Amino acid sequence: MTVPHEFTPSSIADASDDETIPYAAFLGSGEPYASIFVNNMWLLPPKAGAELEWGAGWYYDTTVARKHEYWRDIDLPTATKDLRQLRRDLHEWGFCLIEDGLSAEQCARIRDRVEDQAAAERALGIAYMVESQQHVWSLINKGSDFVGLLEHDPAAVQAGPMIERLLDETLGKGWNHFSLLANISYPGCHPQPMHQDQTWIAPIHTHEAPVLVNSMYVLQDVDEHNGGTLLVPGSHRANGTAETGLYGPLPRPINLEARAGTVLMFDGRMLHGGAVNHTDRFRYVLTNSCVKPWARQQENFLLGTRPEVLEAASPKLLSRLGLQASIASSLVEGFGYRGTGRAGDTNGHLAAIRHEYDHGGYRHVGELSMQELDALDVDALSLAKVQREFEEHRDQAALETMMALNDLLPSRSDPTSDV
Ligand SMILES: [Fe+2]
Repeated sequence: MTVPHEFTPSSIADASDDETIPYAAFLGSGEPYASIFVNNMWLLPPKAGAELEWGAGWYYDTTVARKHEYWRDIDLPTATKDLRQLRRDLHEWGFCLIEDGLSAEQCARIRDRVEDQAAAERALGIAYMVESQQHVWSLINKGSDFVGLLEHDPAAVQAGPMIERLLDETLGKGWNHFSLLANISYPGCHPQPMHQDQTWIAPIHTHEAPVLVNSMYVLQDVDEHNGGTLLVPGSHRANGTAETGLYGPLPRPINLEARAGTVLMFDGRMLHGGAVNHTDRFRYVLTNSCVKPWARQQENFLLGTRPEVLEAASPKLLSRLGLQASIASSLVEGFGYRGTGRAGDTNGHLAAIRHEYDHGGYRHVGELSMQELDALDVDALSLAKVQREFEEHRDQAALETMMALNDLLPSRSDPTSDV
């Protein structure tokens, strides 16, 4: 096959001069980390397997705010149940601390469940371990309290309605869960590299508002000894100039100091990272990131959620898991195009698709031909079944319109039809 010369790889390469390509400098900027690391070399993470250095000024070599040379006289957020204060803290500092967000009972119950689950995953050799932490993923499948957390059900998290309110205000209503996992700092672990949780949109930086908000459930007292998370207060706001790039020199991090049951909510733009655990005990927290509903989620809830959990899930939970299709997202063979994305809207009810997969297999529509329609059983197509059951607009009148349009087709056997 001969194609015009302009479409050949060599011609395309010749016509692609970096100097003239719009957006190339931005897309290749490496921001926000390029400016963060150039202007704050002490934030560079240790090399894999390297001995950690103490007394040399590295980011992980720090302490809690009240003992910190730079931060101790600054009025940083402290744990409170005052929603107005929490709202201000989250906006101004990029984080807030909900005091007793979990009751003592809730906290103990969830911690016991996580501890047992994490140990069993290690014992089976299926755990996810990195140099800084063990992660226990798909908590949605691993205990009813986790489903309660995802719903912000007060039976699982007494501050649920308040967390929900802050998420609605910061992300806008209709946000989705990004993931819910346990982050377990083990004795002798490395610190995590400092990062922003909304890095997946880099180099885009949203100056107006975050696209991710994380809720960390603190399951035992944390401090500078057992791995209280490293935070750079206020770093959700880019402080750079034309000379520095997006970020200029930053203040040093603190270790989170919080009581068991505290819920740390933080802005997806705030720099933070898992800390070193200097003790001989595990340190347990959960992180539940929530995102704008157009984001691709970290956990694929459509594939990864147990059938039993999905069958029992409320419309609110299904919506937050991203299982409500709408015109712009997650269509399956066209199903969902009439969906609003809102909780309970049957027109975008993706759990119905998953149900078909779980019960006997999903049969897709493939290549069709008018010549072979008689051999096809439309009732065997999963799409037809789901359309009939869940699409509200697909009534008799709609079917008749479809059929009437087909009557306009020229007949293939009519010799005059191709004029
Ligand atoms: Fe993070």
